[in-house]
Amino acid sequence: MPVVYSLKNVVKSRLVEGAGFRLSIPSIEINAQENVALVGHSGCGKSTLLDMLALALHPDSAEHFSLTPKEDESYSIDTLWQKKKQNVLAKIRKQHIGYVLQQGGLLPYLTVRENIELPRKLMDMPEDDSTRSIARVMGIHRQLDKLPGLLSAGERQRVAFTRALSHRPTILLADEPTASLDPITARKIMAVVMELVKGLKITMITASHDWAHVYKMDLRSLHQEAEVVENGNVYQSTFRD
Ligand SMILES: Nc1ncnc2c1ncn2[C@@H]1O[C@H](COP(=O)(O)OP(=O)(O)OP(=O)(O)O)[C@@H](O)[C@H]1O
Ligand SMILES: [Mg+2]
Repeated sequence: MPVVYSLKNVVKSRLVEGAGFRLSIPSIEINAQENVALVGHSGCGKSTLLDMLALALHPDSAEHFSLTPKEDESYSIDTLWQKKKQNVLAKIRKQHIGYVLQQGGLLPYLTVRENIELPRKLMDMPEDDSTRSIARVMGIHRQLDKLPGLLSAGERQRVAFTRALSHRPTILLADEPTASLDPITARKIMAVVMELVKGLKITMITASHDWAHVYKMDLRSLHQEAEVVENGNVYQSTFRD
């Protein structure tokens, strides 16, 4: 399988009220159609790493950062950031990446259907039956005309997954997508998503602090190792395979 993400010596620092945070990634390679978990405690940099993988956050430095969303399409992301090609990065993201946020991130004034169709509209894609079939698999096809505020938390996350998949991305990123749900609902939703992603041949990366779940699903995991750098009060966090 081709390598979708290839990162080498990627660093991102963030200043937080006098104390520093530094995320460091010596080397990560994620192959097409792999299903990978980013595992680590709160504050270790999972969302920071996902935002960089989503091309939404600029690394401070990167020896190498490439993205190959399709076999015949490859980008040097570090070069695009260096050249400040934000519009190109946004276009790659819009076309190839679906992103599910922890709280779903649905627009409250749009119906479920309009929320799901939004990524397709932004790309001028025609209406398509596949969105309806994904909605059916996710079990939300009867909720399409409701506003998100009238759904349960679990239903909202199902909608968020459906929306993230509606423009047929090759990559799905999910940031603790079921953290606000009870464990049984969380596992049910993830089981459906895993099946769907496998069928659609999508590469999936999920941030999670639920070790037990990650082990149970038998996912490859990238673990976080922390060290506090003594002088300077910098909390250094490293993700390794
Ligand atoms: N926009 C920001 N500006 C400055 N610092 C930030 C910002 N976002 C996050 N941080 C800091 O970066 C560090 C990593 O945060 P991040 O959100 O990536 O962690 P996380 O692993 O996703 O945590 P959680 O499990 O709680 O979601 C934290 O110390 C946090 O305070
Ligand atoms: Mg987070």
